[in-house]
Amino acid sequence: MYDEMNRKIEALKVVPVVKLDREQDALPLGEALCAGGLPAAEITFRTDAAEGSIRAMARRFPEMAVGAGTVTTVEQAKRAVDAGASFLVSPGVNMPVVEYCVENKVPIYPGTCTPSEIMSVLGLGIEVVKFFPCAQYGGLKTIKALAPVFPGLRFMPTGGINIDNLAEFLAYDRIIACGGSWMVSAKLINAGQFDEITRLSAQAVAAAAPYVK
Ligand code: 3PG
Repeated sequence: MYDEMNRKIEALKVVPVVKLDREQDALPLGEALCAGGLPAAEITFRTDAAEGSIRAMARRFPEMAVGAGTVTTVEQAKRAVDAGASFLVSPGVNMPVVEYCVENKVPIYPGTCTPSEIMSVLGLGIEVVKFFPCAQYGGLKTIKALAPVFPGLRFMPTGGINIDNLAEFLAYDRIIACGGSWMVSAKLINAGQFDEITRLSAQAVAAAAPYVK
């Protein structure tokens, strides 16, 4: 279920984590990300605008990896998939959500930060876990302690990653990509600063380029 999505995420190495307050910002945001060479968005279910924004962005930009974030219930997972999300991300492990995704072959990146949480999803076909909140749970040091225990598993750290520490994370080969909101902050989106989003996205792409295989 993962192959195509992992390839896309691996080719970008950065997944913008978006909170959209207004659906009307979805298309300008998609334009801005694509113009910056970063055609991906994890649109979080933290606002009522999430579902409509996923639908609009996925339709208008079929080349983008448009996913849903902060998915905490099966009902949200179904709405996200119906809206066109091609991957789902959860802040933690919700077993019914993971099982729904596995059954329906929807790539899911469940949030984990302990060995037990990782073990709860191993064996279900999960190949990549989100490591969240990364900075608060020990950052790269913790990922490097967990990774050798779980051969083959890869990590998508999120939480506290920015342009200054991105390369440090990407240099570790068990990290498939980093999630982050710094190039798509709600402040920039709500102020309509899409040119700045393009600039920060291009800057992230350039910083990640040495680590794209
Ligand atoms: C989140 O869920 O908000 C993401 O982890 C983004 O974290 P960041 O804002 O620290 O990049």
